[in-house]
Amino acid sequence: MKLSAVILAAGQGTRMKSRLPKVLHPILGRPMAYYALEAARQVTQSTPVMVIGHAAEQVRKALGDQAEYVLQEPQLGTGHAVMQAEPFLAGKSDLVLVIYADMPLLTAQTLGLLVEKSRSHTGPVSMLMVTADETRGFGRILRDRNGHVMGIVEEAQATTEQLEIHELNPGVYCFQADWLWNALKRIQLSPKGEYYLTDLVGMAVEQGADIQPMSVENPSEVIGINTRVHLAQAEVLMRQRINQAWMLAGVSMIDPANVYIESGVTLGQDTVLWPGTYLHGSTQVGAGCVIGPDTIIRDSIIGNNCTLLASVLEGALLEDHVEMGPYCHLRKGAHLCSGVHMGNFGEVKNSTLGPGAKMGHFSYLGDTTVGAKANIGAGSITCNYDGEHKYPTEIGEGAFIGSDTMLVAPVKVGAFAKTGAGAVVTTDIPPHTLAVGIPARVIKELKK
Ligand code: UD1
Ligand code: CA
Repeated sequence: MKLSAVILAAGQGTRMKSRLPKVLHPILGRPMAYYALEAARQVTQSTPVMVIGHAAEQVRKALGDQAEYVLQEPQLGTGHAVMQAEPFLAGKSDLVLVIYADMPLLTAQTLGLLVEKSRSHTGPVSMLMVTADETRGFGRILRDRNGHVMGIVEEAQATTEQLEIHELNPGVYCFQADWLWNALKRIQLSPKGEYYLTDLVGMAVEQGADIQPMSVENPSEVIGINTRVHLAQAEVLMRQRINQAWMLAGVSMIDPANVYIESGVTLGQDTVLWPGTYLHGSTQVGAGCVIGPDTIIRDSIIGNNCTLLASVLEGALLEDHVEMGPYCHLRKGAHLCSGVHMGNFGEVKNSTLGPGAKMGHFSYLGDTTVGAKANIGAGSITCNYDGEHKYPTEIGEGAFIGSDTMLVAPVKVGAFAKTGAGAVVTTDIPPHTLAVGIPARVIKELKK
């Protein structure tokens, strides 16, 4: 039986009080709607149809080709929203899963179980339900004396008695497709002027069909996001979920509540994360590393057995056994080869430090290549920018850059050359020589 998914994302989300459409508010670095899309894709193995309306272009642009899009204009309720997907899906699938873009914690696993339920029953409607103390404005599930589901009543229309019901409708359904497309056309306008998708439940019952409700084991899966308070709750839960998965995969966290790992990040076994570690974007961390406390890494690749203390990395590449911090800043294009050591207050941009190179204290390298085992003395700086253009610096293998050297680019320091403390290097220095002064002059040859 072919299965497809419709994701509702056309509503405005007024209660977010935001210029950003609700479904684009980020949770752990991804737009909220991404999570519903991903879960739907996993169960259906196909591209979901997303119903957009409010800020449609912005939503479409942000989510790209992860979904097919259909416009709902004007937005006349959840039933009306699903109706818009009919031209896309009619005749192409046997079952239709309907979920919301503002329910990011719902797992593919739960959706899979709901689909199973649908496949093993003949009724046209299977739906999730949740029992919770906090009703959060959800529709109430009505049952008859024998416990059969009879319908759903929206909170706004519920009687005082019905408001006491704590069996709630999260709004996640699996429908038989042909039945769905027919039934949608028969929904009546609600007193609020909307077409309620929830009316389909009562409609199926009237036709003598059984509804298959499926209880959600973990109520936090169906937290819908309506306000920024809900957004923060979802962020915490998502973070816990991701952190737990990494701990179970062999990553240690000293204080998981203070570790932020976005969903695109990967980590190796026996890596230890200290509090205040933030791993963003497409960051990959190898095995046996110690990261933090207080380290922020974005879109970077870290090899195995690296130690990073209180540092900030963006777009950097570290090979194995790199040691860094406290207080280093690696910017785009920083490449630290195996065994590099960087001490406090180092900044590296668009530069490669060769294997075993050392840069212990207060230095800046920009647009530079540093050979293996070279030593960058305290306070040394590449002057790579003259106010108009940027120029490269080359530091040869085994070179020793004396403290407080200014390397005025473009310039080359040969292999095993040395500069004296405070040198201002404006012309190339040959290999195996010592240069000192301002501007730096070669004063002697060094033994090979
Ligand atoms: C809906 C359900 C309610 C359920 C609750 C769970 C109906 C009538 N009610 O109510 O029983 O407990 O969800 O969260 O279905 N949307 C559109 N187009 C529209 C209207 C809504 O795409 O015209 C989208 C919204 O963007 C959102 C989702 O549908 O993602 C739910 O809409 P919302 O207005 O939040 O429904 P609720 O009133 O919460
Ligand atoms: Ca809602």
